[in-house]
Amino acid sequence: MANLKGKVAIVTGAARGIGAAIARRLASDGADVAICDLKAEWCEETVKALEALGAKAKGYGVNVAASAEVDACVKAVIADFGRIDIMVNNAGITKDGLLMRMSDEDWDAVLDVNLKGTFLFTRAVARPMMKNKAADGTQLGGAIINIASVVGIMGNAGQANYTASKGGVIALTKTTSKELGSRNIRCNAVAPGFIQSKMTDVLPDDVKKSYMEMIPLKRFGTADDIAKAVAWLAGDDAAYITGQIISVNGGMLG
Ligand code: NAI
Repeated sequence: MANLKGKVAIVTGAARGIGAAIARRLASDGADVAICDLKAEWCEETVKALEALGAKAKGYGVNVAASAEVDACVKAVIADFGRIDIMVNNAGITKDGLLMRMSDEDWDAVLDVNLKGTFLFTRAVARPMMKNKAADGTQLGGAIINIASVVGIMGNAGQANYTASKGGVIALTKTTSKELGSRNIRCNAVAPGFIQSKMTDVLPDDVKKSYMEMIPLKRFGTADDIAKAVAWLAGDDAAYITGQIISVNGGMLG
């Protein structure tokens, strides 16, 4: 278990699903957590779950694709919690369709949330993280963890917008690690495989079956499988790890 006592985390898209599991896990490991989603009231359930674990938690309504909203959210979190040590860019959407028929709107919407949203929050937390210093002046920095996807590495028919956004997140992760490493800000990505969630519940049974055939561990992943990897990357046990893409996919892709 990572020791995150005294750390403050932001998790986007944390009202439900993988984001909520990440928030719960970071709180179990000792962190206080700002829960961000499109509407503050959607965050209430996650906030209550974290408070029951003894953590400080608060919900914020923010569209990750809107620059001014992201900057205002980061300011509010600093006012409420005093600092930011961990940033988890998890909010994501799909709007699937074959590329020949994909509308400009569906392309833009997915790129805006998944890729631009990750960029906007990363830019907004970089300066506050640079200011994190120990009493003796040691640079404490922070940890940024981006949620990518196995299909951002391998591609997937019917998901031109989504796979491009997640491939972009992977490249952005590597660049962020290079730009901010000297300030001890680490940036890594977790690339989940097929995870049981609202996003995947809607897929037809034959698609689910064909995915299962590709998974050596013979089960779909859980949100907690992702949360564990995120918590490890957030903590000091991963102090010398940056610019990496950690696949959590049951062996679906080597
Ligand atoms: P989900 O749909 O259950 O949850 C996504 C959350 O993000 C929702 O609470 C939603 O309200 C929020 N959100 C959407 N647009 C937003 C915006 N513009 N601003 C703020 N919040 C916004 O999805 P799930 O499955 O929990 O996925 C979380 C992340 O994991 C996403 O980035 C997804 O791409 C990624 N992922 C999921 C996989 C899966 O199998 N479920 C596999 C690989 C990656």
